Parts: sequence; structure tokens; C-alpha cells
Amino acid sequence: MEMLEALRLQWEWGADEALADLPIDRLSPPATRPAPPAEAPPPPPAVPPHHRAKPALPGLADAKHLAESCQTLEDLAAAMRGFAGCALSVTATQLVFADGAADARLVIVGEAPGAEEDRAGRPFVGPAGQLLDKMLASIGLDRTLVRIVNTVPWRPPGNRAPTESEVALCLPFLHRQIALIAPRGLFTLGAVAAKALLPLEATSGIRRLRGQWKQAEITGLPAPLPCLPSYHPAYLLRTPAAKAEAWHDLLALKNWLNDA
Ligand code: URA
Repeated sequence: MEMLEALRLQWEWGADEALADLPIDRLSPPATRPAPPAEAPPPPPAVPPHHRAKPALPGLADAKHLAESCQTLEDLAAAMRGFAGCALSVTATQLVFADGAADARLVIVGEAPGAEEDRAGRPFVGPAGQLLDKMLASIGLDRTLVRIVNTVPWRPPGNRAPTESEVALCLPFLHRQIALIAPRGLFTLGAVAAKALLPLEATSGIRRLRGQWKQAEITGLPAPLPCLPSYHPAYLLRTPAAKAEAWHDLLALKNWLNDA
């Protein structure tokens, strides 16, 4: 009877439907439940792409090591094409390695390729190059008798001057090319080339330095090379009055080549 009374009471309170087969005693202490599985450690916070560590670009020590490992001019050109350390190689169309003879007695060093050189892949093919060809012809030379290279072998965007760090990074390649050719002497065109190859002399500026034979220390060569700094042909195109001094420099070069 008691149980019937209890059932009636539940029915009157609205408990008129069985939700489970067995009754649940909610008044007894809770049974110990199995511990929830241990949580996996939280994943490391996502690093935004611009904060992720990038592989370091090759630097000056890598450029030196790479250049000095090259035993031929072909190796050197290939190594320079694959060198990712100089940002100019990204903006330039291509490497402008050199023109002229691989065994030249004279290496002529310019500054950096311009737009025409960047397209052609050859140094000094634009207006400054045409003037250089005339200057060489005036002393009985042409491109087959000399080697023509640039201090920096990739065109700086907008034809700006190469920065000091760009020059420093490319210098091991220039030294290596000169060492592999082993010429009798060097003829530098403009302030950038003079400063790169005559770092102790070029502090006085190209106007004072031009026309004077100096000694350039080249890595890999046993003795310094005679080096004659002169004006850049692009400067001569803008400043025709300086052509007289450039002519003196060319005559000095011609006399030296005749004696050398
Ligand atoms: N000026 C340079 O110094 N080099 C070139 O190749 C062309 C213009």
C-alpha cells in the first residue's frame, strides 16, 4: 500500500513517464566516476608567417668562400649566378659577368650594369660603352684585347649607385675574376671601382686620384697589380670638359702597355 501511495504521489506531481529502466537514487553519495582522460598539452601558439625564422641569406664570408673555391672563370660565373646573398640579383634581369679575353693583359673595371647591359648580359653596351669602345680604339685596343668587368655585376634598380655593402659583398667575386685572369694591370673607371680596388687611396676622390698609377692588392695574386684610375665614360658624356684629362690617362695607359 505504501508503495502504491508513493506512486500516486509521483503521478500527481507529473512524473508520469519512465525515463530509464532502473531507478536512479539521487540521494545517495555519488559513485566515484572514472577520471577524465588526461588532456593533451595545448598546441604551441601559431607563429605569424612574418615572425617565422627564415634561413639566413649568404653573407660576406660565404661570398669569399664561394669565390675562392672557383678554379675557372666558368665556375665563377656559375657560382655568381647561384649566389643569393646580394639583393640586386633579385631585381636585375641577369648577371652581367664580363666581356673580352679570358687571358687579357688589362682588366677594365666599371661600376655596375645599366639598363642596356642588364638586358644584354654584357657590360658597357649602352651609351657609356660606346664611348668606352671609342676610347679603347683611340689607343689601338678593342674588346677582344682586354677584359671588361664591373665592380657590381647586377644592375642596381633605377641605375642608382651601388651601396657600400653591395660593393663589399660583390668584391670577392671581382677579386677572384681578376686573380683567375692574372692580368698585368687594371684600369678603373669612376669612383666606385677606384674605391673598391684601392680602398686606401680613394679617400681623396676620383678627381685627385685619376691619372696616377697605384698598386691594387688582389686576393689570390702573389703581388699587387699596377692600377690606373680614370673617369667613368658616363661622367665624360655629362662633362665633356673632363675628356682632356681622360685623354691623358689613356695615353699613360697606352705607354704602360707598350712597356709592360
Ligand atoms: N656603366 C658601368 O659602370 N658599367 C656598365 O656595364 C655600363 C655602364
